[in-house]
Amino acid sequence: MAEKIVQLAPMLGLIDAPFMNAIAEVGGFDEIFAPYMLADERSMPKPQVLARRFSGISKSVNLVPQLLSNNADAFVAIANILNDLGYPKVNWNMGCPIKFVVSKNRGAALLRDLENLERLLDSAIGRLKPKLSVKIRIGFSSPDEFPAIIEVFNKFKLNELIVHARTAEQQYGGEPYRQAFIESAGNSLNPIVYNGDIACAADANISLPNLKGYMIGRGAIANPYIGLQIKGLSTDNAPTFRQFATEITHWYCARNNLNRLKELWKYFAKALDKPDEIFAKLQKINNSEKFCETVESLF
Ligand SMILES: Cc1cc2nc3c(=O)[nH]c(=O)nc-3n(C[C@H](O)[C@H](O)[C@H](O)COP(=O)(O)O)c2cc1C
Repeated sequence: MAEKIVQLAPMLGLIDAPFMNAIAEVGGFDEIFAPYMLADERSMPKPQVLARRFSGISKSVNLVPQLLSNNADAFVAIANILNDLGYPKVNWNMGCPIKFVVSKNRGAALLRDLENLERLLDSAIGRLKPKLSVKIRIGFSSPDEFPAIIEVFNKFKLNELIVHARTAEQQYGGEPYRQAFIESAGNSLNPIVYNGDIACAADANISLPNLKGYMIGRGAIANPYIGLQIKGLSTDNAPTFRQFATEITHWYCARNNLNRLKELWKYFAKALDKPDEIFAKLQKINNSEKFCETVESLF
């Protein structure tokens, strides 16, 4: 079986340039997905604004921009600008379960009306310059919706269909429906990427002929070496976890972004002994200098 690719999941409010740059240095991730940006007819960004958005990201990051949209014209317009800016592939977010996104009929809401979904894809795909990757949930309310969702996507040629194996109603809690995924994903004519709770290399063990690879989010923050480990590659030449975590910590400390650090350290702490104690200790700190010092003292 061909080697599986590994993708870093988009995580709005958690992962941006410093994390992307640091994990690209570690290696093992074939593609890094940017958190979503809105593609809406009423607020079309200029190409310069789009280019600036990714300006802090190192050239060594193989970046895939992601758009959140329920409008084919806006999606195509922005995706084509991104293609002109040098991004050969764009992802369509059809999986976001958050209330204010779903209430505007975006993200996972698109999975609730499959006729509309088909019209949307039909209207966009012929006009798109970049390759199209789509990220979905296994269903909106139930994994039983998955076979019918796959049938709709089978009418189109995608670069890949990334499936977060939770329903939108589950948000990020509960277990992913791994078995329901395995039972139906083989019917996809498009290459499939599995996403959901991959925390170690042993979790990346799905055997399906059309499985292209794995997308990893939270597991990659707790263990940035997971891409290398899945591929059976050595981690000897990668930066140490201390280097990885302190570089990112210093970057946010310099910008006084303690909220972001506290979010990231929820996951970084899992790589160290006594994660709950470390996390509780860091949560109480209200000063960037102290935060950095405390992090240094952990190693
Ligand atoms: C804080 C947070 C932000 C997220 N932002 C995005 C996003 O911008 N776009 C997206 O498609 N998914 C987003 N997700 C979902 C993740 O990409 C991923 O599908 C989910 O975390 C499950 O994968 P994991 O178990 O490997 O973390 C987000 C998840 C979290 C927890």
